Amino acid sequence: MRSPCDHRVEWFLSMLAETPIAAPRTEERFTALVKTQLRRLRAAAARSWLNPYTLTNRRLTALLGEMAPRAHGKMLDVGCGKKPYASLFSQVEAHIGVEVPITLSKSQVIDVYGSALHLPFASSSFDTVLCTQVLEHVPEPHQLLGEVARVLKPGGILILTAPQTWGPHEVPHDFFRFTRFGLSYLAGCAGLQVETIKPTTGTFGMVGQRLSTLLYHKLGQGRFLCQMPTMLLCASVQLVCEGLDRLVARDGDTLDHVMVAIKVPSPDGNHGPQPAPR
Ligand SMILES: C[S@@+](CC[C@H](N)C(=O)[O-])C[C@H]1O[C@@H](n2cnc3c(N)ncnc32)[C@H](O)[C@@H]1O
Repeated sequence: MRSPCDHRVEWFLSMLAETPIAAPRTEERFTALVKTQLRRLRAAAARSWLNPYTLTNRRLTALLGEMAPRAHGKMLDVGCGKKPYASLFSQVEAHIGVEVPITLSKSQVIDVYGSALHLPFASSSFDTVLCTQVLEHVPEPHQLLGEVARVLKPGGILILTAPQTWGPHEVPHDFFRFTRFGLSYLAGCAGLQVETIKPTTGTFGMVGQRLSTLLYHKLGQGRFLCQMPTMLLCASVQLVCEGLDRLVARDGDTLDHVMVAIKVPSPDGNHGPQPAPR
């Protein structure tokens, strides 16, 4: 005669037999593998010419890479976003990112919240200031440069990029575009001595990037089936224009400028601009 305990063991064994343990695990592992590979593929595509913004990304990164060895000591990244150029500045002692609380990039790398127009730092407290693609987003660009000059130590260095040609973005917080002369004027007014201002592209690079962006937004974005053919088209446009840009002499048309400027120590020992009035 079987005991109630035997019945319980039998019931338990039958439950085990019906429970497909191995299959879901294999399935889960397979799904995770596919997801990882897709993520890798997407990251590779983002770095390639299939990304409609590769031309501007590459040119900005290349020029910033050229200027990056000038950065040293404690570096403030004004309007840092996701600190996309952090790897170029790995030699600095500290890379402190400041952002406005309303920023669209809710990034984990922001160190301090505050406005570029009233930087929450003491005067002469940074050796380097990095400011990439932010100047066009403030209504008072001269005030931003005044604040940069204030927080820089005498002899400190500013590395700044700003667009000369680009469509409206981060609207309505998009106010200006800058020629090399405008940048030079604003730097001079803030007591910064311009060392160099370089364009990121010529006319062909500028046209290629603008066309690639236009094609992507009109034909590809949000349309699953059209996305890959549009990205291939964007890649062709960018590559052709990149080639032409390297062949034809620069004539003043560009997407962006990269400027390097120094805070000149004043002869009277004065530390330069005082905090901007609120
Ligand atoms: C085009 S994004 C550039 C972000 C980053 N520097 C980059 O190169 O990817 C402009 C950034 O400026 C920031 N910004 C706009 N106004 C600002 C202000 N008054 N103070 C500090 N940051 C500001 C925005 O939040 C945004 O992250």
